[in-house]
Amino acid sequence: MTIRTKFTEVFGVEHPIAQGGMQWVGRAELVAAVANAGALGFITALTQPTPADLANEIAKTRDLTDKPFGVNLTILPSINPPPYDEYRQVIVDSGIKIVETAGSNPAPHLPMFHDNGIKVLHKCTSVRHAVKAQSLGVDGISIDGFECAGHPGEDDVPGLVLIPAAANQIEIPMIASGGFGDARGLVAALALGADGINMGSRFMCTVESPIHQNVKEAIVAGSELDTELIFRPLRNTGRVASNAVSREVVEILDRGGKFEDVKDLVSGARGSRVYETGDLDAGIWWVGTVMGLINDIPTCGELVSRIVAEAEELITERLGGAVVEAAIR
Ligand SMILES: Cc1cc2nc3c(=O)[nH]c(=O)nc-3n(C[C@H](O)[C@H](O)[C@H](O)COP(=O)(O)O)c2cc1C
Repeated sequence: MTIRTKFTEVFGVEHPIAQGGMQWVGRAELVAAVANAGALGFITALTQPTPADLANEIAKTRDLTDKPFGVNLTILPSINPPPYDEYRQVIVDSGIKIVETAGSNPAPHLPMFHDNGIKVLHKCTSVRHAVKAQSLGVDGISIDGFECAGHPGEDDVPGLVLIPAAANQIEIPMIASGGFGDARGLVAALALGADGINMGSRFMCTVESPIHQNVKEAIVAGSELDTELIFRPLRNTGRVASNAVSREVVEILDRGGKFEDVKDLVSGARGSRVYETGDLDAGIWWVGTVMGLINDIPTCGELVSRIVAEAEELITERLGGAVVEAAIR
C-alpha cells in the first residue's frame, strides 16, 4: 500500500514527504538518502559557495541516487545578494526538474524555470502569500507554521489553523511544514487538507545528515521548549536552538540593540562551525519545536518507511476503527 496525493502525482514522488532546503545541512549525502527513501529532497543552493560548486553538488547527488530530487533557492533580502541568476542558470543547465523557492516572491524566477519544464514548490508562512504564489502560477505550495525551524514569519499562526485556512483557498498541491516528524503528523496534515508534509529538523537528525553527531544527539535530548525566537524586534524572526549565543542575541535585541550589535554572534560562519565541530555553543543553529518529538537517529530509509507504514495503519485501523455503526455503540 502507499499514500497517493495530488503532491505525489504532480511532483512524481513515491511518498508525500519532502525534505526542505536547509542551510549547511541540505547537501548531497542527505538529499540522495531522502530520494532513495522515496521522498523528495532538496539541495540547498546557497550552502554552495559558488554556482559552480552547486553544479558539482548536483552531480555528486546524482552519483548517489537515480531518483528525482530538487534544489532549494532561498531568496532573502541582502546588502550583498548572492548571484541568484547564476545559481538559477546552474539549476536549469543541470537538468533539475523541481525547485523549492523560499524567502520572498518567486515571480522573477518563474518564467525561466517554467520555460525549462521545472516545477516550482513555493514555501511561505501565510495564507496571503500562498494565495499570491498560486496566482503567480507556482506548481505547489509548502506552508510553514509557527512551529517550524528557520523563518516562521511574523503572524505566529500554528499549523493547526494555518494549514486548513490555506487549504480553503489553495487548489494546487500543498504540503504542510513545521512541526512534522512522525506518522501522526502526516495523517493530521492530510486531515487538515494538505497533500503531504515537509520536514526539516526531523531529516537533520538522521544517519545520513552531514552534520556532527553532537548536534543530532542534542536534538534527541532536546524538548519542544528548547528553541529561541531570534530577531523578533527586527521583524525577521528565526527559530533556532536555545544556546548561549541565541539567548544572548534575544537579550541584546530585547534591550533595544540593533542588528549591528548581534551581527557577529549570528554569522553564518559561526553557525556552520556548530555542524562541523559539534560545539553546540559555537554559533546559532536552526531547529524547530518538533525537537520534542525526535527521539532517535534513524536512516532516512528507516524514517520514511516508518512514517508511511504507521500512517497507513493509523488511517485504516485506528481512525477507520473509530467509525462505528450508531446502533452498536
Ligand atoms: C538547519 C536548518 C536550516 C534551514 N535552512 C533553510 C534554508 O536555507 N532555506 C529554507 O527555505 N528553509 C530552511 N529551513 C527550513 C526548512 O526547510 C523547513 O521549512 C523547516 O525546517 C520545517 O520545520 P521543521 O523543522 O519543524 O520540520 C531550515 C531548517 C533547518 C532545520
